[in-house]
Amino acid sequence: MSYKDRLNFNFHIPTRIVFGEGALKETVKEMDSLGMRQALVVTDVTLKDTPMVKSLLDHLGNKAASLYAEAIPDSSVEVVNRGAQVFCEARADGLISIGGGSTMDTTKAIGVLAKKGKNDLKEFLGFSKVGEPIVPHIAIPTTSGTASEVTMFATIKDHETKIKNLMSDPFLIPRVAILDPLLTVGLPPVMTAATGMDAMSHAVESFHARGYEPIADGLALQAIRLIVQYLPRCLEKGDDVEARGMQAIASTMAGMAFQNALVGCVHGMAHALGGMYGLHHGLANAILLSHGIRFNMPVSAHRYRQVGEALGLDPGGKNDAEIGEMAARAIENFTRQLGLPQRLSQVNIPKDNLGEVAKLAVVDPGMRSNIRKVTDPQEITAVLLAAW
Ligand SMILES: [Fe+2]
Repeated sequence: MSYKDRLNFNFHIPTRIVFGEGALKETVKEMDSLGMRQALVVTDVTLKDTPMVKSLLDHLGNKAASLYAEAIPDSSVEVVNRGAQVFCEARADGLISIGGGSTMDTTKAIGVLAKKGKNDLKEFLGFSKVGEPIVPHIAIPTTSGTASEVTMFATIKDHETKIKNLMSDPFLIPRVAILDPLLTVGLPPVMTAATGMDAMSHAVESFHARGYEPIADGLALQAIRLIVQYLPRCLEKGDDVEARGMQAIASTMAGMAFQNALVGCVHGMAHALGGMYGLHHGLANAILLSHGIRFNMPVSAHRYRQVGEALGLDPGGKNDAEIGEMAARAIENFTRQLGLPQRLSQVNIPKDNLGEVAKLAVVDPGMRSNIRKVTDPQEITAVLLAAW
């Protein structure tokens, strides 16, 4: 493995990670260490009345300024704008998110508006539009996949144009991430598998992203090893706390990797399919990941040897292209073992519109950070057709 063209990079991970069974009960201590007096708690309507949110609110007592339970999948500008209004009315000075990636992304965006004293998110969509520390945010993920708890990204969908807008700014990174495996024991198998494959995609994509470097590689490889070992156990026995905990850590490590190295063509295509058809992000990545590896093979075959080893393959005597193909097949076998769909046709994506999906995918930020430069949508149409 050569890093001779990787002799200059920055690695940025400012989040304090608190891990442990029952770590939810560390939240007040973490608020105190941040000087946070009263927080707006953000969640979604499906989690609002669950024991985990009730337990957090009981633990917070009067340190919870209010509850905003309107986060939705892929979020929206309107949901964020309303949340910022609630934040101001509640006179909170901090944010706590409890939920999946959309809830954490919504909370990051609320933190921007609350800090700026503005009531419309639109002017902050895009890259590096924040430029100063936002309201402190403690993120408590209840899925193990998006890793939004350690990243500078927030995806906020425009539900009219059906485009997923990316916000990216180092100031969006939560100050604290609380990883409590007890919060994911009730996650249904299909969601466990799909979000788990999002984490796998972050790890593998950071290997074929343009920003790859040795620190991100190390995190990504260990994330892959943990996912291979523990994600199937999470499905076999949902309350396997060790497996849930290791999957949570794997997800966060993969997040640290892609937060620095970025992602690639698989996320570019997944974002387009999520925007146009509402296809679940993790599920889209699960279906597309092996095809993304094959697409990038002409440029990055040499990079997949370590990925293959982390997946448990024996690369002895094989050349780089053979190892790359073995890695792609191992990913397909793994998603089959998890019981996930294998093809876009199985999740109701129309074949005759893949050209339009490709047009959207080639301008997605994920595609722009892919190691193989993509300019012609037809190249991506071919990948989507292979996955159909
Ligand atoms: Fe992702």
